[in-house]
Amino acid sequence: MSQKEYFNSEYPSVEHLIKKAQSRVPGFAFDYLHGGCFSGVNLDRNIEDIKKVQLKPWYLKDYQGASQETELFGKTYSSPFGVAPVGLQGLMWPNSCEYLAQAAKDHNIPFTLSTVGTASIEKIAKITDGDFWFQLYHPAQDDLRDKLLERAWDAGCRTLVILADTPTFAYRPMEIRNGLSIPPRMTMRNIAQMMFRWNWCFSQLFAGGMPEFQTMKPYIPKGLSMKHLGLFMNKTFSGRLTEAKIAPIRDKWKGNLVIKGIVNPEDAEVAVKHGLDGMIVSNHGGRQLDRGESTIEPLKRLAPDFKGKIKIMMDSGIRNGADIAAAMACGADFTFMGRTPMYGVAALGKHGGHHTFEMIKKQLQQNMEQIACEKVTDFPRHLVSE
Ligand SMILES: Cc1cc2nc3c(=O)[nH]c(=O)nc-3n(C[C@H](O)[C@H](O)[C@H](O)COP(=O)(O)O)c2cc1C
Repeated sequence: MSQKEYFNSEYPSVEHLIKKAQSRVPGFAFDYLHGGCFSGVNLDRNIEDIKKVQLKPWYLKDYQGASQETELFGKTYSSPFGVAPVGLQGLMWPNSCEYLAQAAKDHNIPFTLSTVGTASIEKIAKITDGDFWFQLYHPAQDDLRDKLLERAWDAGCRTLVILADTPTFAYRPMEIRNGLSIPPRMTMRNIAQMMFRWNWCFSQLFAGGMPEFQTMKPYIPKGLSMKHLGLFMNKTFSGRLTEAKIAPIRDKWKGNLVIKGIVNPEDAEVAVKHGLDGMIVSNHGGRQLDRGESTIEPLKRLAPDFKGKIKIMMDSGIRNGADIAAAMACGADFTFMGRTPMYGVAALGKHGGHHTFEMIKKQLQQNMEQIACEKVTDFPRHLVSE
């Protein structure tokens, strides 16, 4: 069996992966991955609302078999899902950024590197032969923005993701309580949490080394204390995206430009007006606005008006192949997952990405075969309208 087809039948669902991940990763790192903002209302809503979507089968159709192949920005991916940008992945499991990039490449699905990921643009380019997406946190200085765009382009990246949904820092009680930082802060509680996670400690010390913001490393002054690194990052990124910031990026970036965090028609109009190629209906996985809607709801409203004008993608709350089927039926052209692949790597280390993608593919295939959906673009025909 090739690494690509790796599938461990002990962990056939994300729930199994979460349980295993929780037993291997120190509490402060698991909380960072698993939690939402405030009391997790938006996070729970994402997961619950997508389950309410209902699909109708067509059992007596002259069914010719199902293919997950999906065309996006002139490329044919093997499945309609990809890896969303996640910052600080190395804290949850050493080398997880690199493992997921490799697994995504092997499975022919897109991998998105975050500006604050723990592998550099150049390393991910090497792993993926330049076939990756890059998510830009908007730098306050144009000079740094241009350097990052240039590095991504030179490395082969042709799809840039800009971020609309982080105008301000999130309020996440568990992160505040855990004093989250890299390297992990040595409070008594954090030390106690690490003590029973030998695999994680061993891997951090010997395999991956302590995680660092590798893409940002050249711009971070040497020898900063954690407090000053935090202040540096706050000053470096300007947070709120505006039309005035989108326009020069559109001018400079010759590849596909995607905006992430769109949940209303006003913002979608701006994306179309500026000639963006795609929008990701996302609420950052319930990590920013606790009283926000689940993303499946705005997706249903935006798809009829914007389909064909701009590629519509969705993330937040996708945990299995049935959720992908639901999102595609509600009008998504493509989907992304943030936590699900990370649970896989936290649970199974370097096999985790391959296992998770194989699992999701099997689940999606079963859904397609069950309802007789031959192509991913046929999913909307199977939606039970409300
Ligand atoms: C631990 C964690 C870190 C994240 N870091 C980033 C980031 O650096 N940039 C970004 O655009 N989105 C980030 N996100 C949001 C994801 O890209 C994605 O929108 C979200 O995880 C989707 O929800 P899901 O986890 O339910 O799939 C992060 C999400 C998580 C869980």
